[in-house]
Amino acid sequence: MSFISTLSIAPGQPVAAAATALRAALGSAKVVHLRGLAASRPAAEWPAFYDALTEATGQCLHLDENFALGSVRTGEKWIEVRYDAAIPDDAAYRFSKNAQPLHTDESYLSEPADVMFMHCLVQAPAGGETTFVNADELWQQLQWHAPALAARLLDRPVRFAKADDSRTLPIIAQTPAGLRLNWNYHCVDPAETAENHALTQEFREFLLTHITGTPAEVTIQLAPGEAVAWWDDQVLHGRRAFRAVATNDRFLLKSGFRLPASV
Ligand SMILES: [Fe+2]
Repeated sequence: MSFISTLSIAPGQPVAAAATALRAALGSAKVVHLRGLAASRPAAEWPAFYDALTEATGQCLHLDENFALGSVRTGEKWIEVRYDAAIPDDAAYRFSKNAQPLHTDESYLSEPADVMFMHCLVQAPAGGETTFVNADELWQQLQWHAPALAARLLDRPVRFAKADDSRTLPIIAQTPAGLRLNWNYHCVDPAETAENHALTQEFREFLLTHITGTPAEVTIQLAPGEAVAWWDDQVLHGRRAFRAVATNDRFLLKSGFRLPASV
């Protein structure tokens, strides 16, 4: 698997053809940056196009959470990731303009999708890049800078929880298909052991010291109409801080889907 590839959506390309191309791209890259839609379709058509594209590509999950109700699942397919001036920046990354530390989206989901998909309606006036770190690069950096931490992390189960859902997986697992990641510092189960809390604290500090802001972290700036799809457990992702004043100065929609193993 390569790390990041770009997929151009041709003017007038039917959804089915774009879905075939997206499946193929996800068969050979961990992250796929989709470009070109804005050149041929007005903004009002983007949500419907990407809704149809994701439906035609995989089995879509309905992952939306209600922030005001303790993150209970709403049943909606698309999650709004947007700046909201009425919500304190520290209350939720989804609505803030703060940088978001590296993580995987599905750390606490017992029934995860495989691929996360996010498209951009409104780009922040400045900043707001999505960042990605290849699991293989992360592992190399860990072995180089912190081999003892790497050894403790590998294949050691850690429980992550949020709302009524939870999942217990290693932060870094070695599988026949390659390295797999499961990580969100803010979702480590408070009831985890002191040893695992210490481990997650060390890994968080390692990321901030040796990965965030280094060449290991690659940025993608989603322009309006563009999208990005990524295998959630084969990369870490995060977000750079951005400038925003009014509600919806940055507005993205995110969902997730499963892909058949045959891809
Ligand atoms: Fe995320």
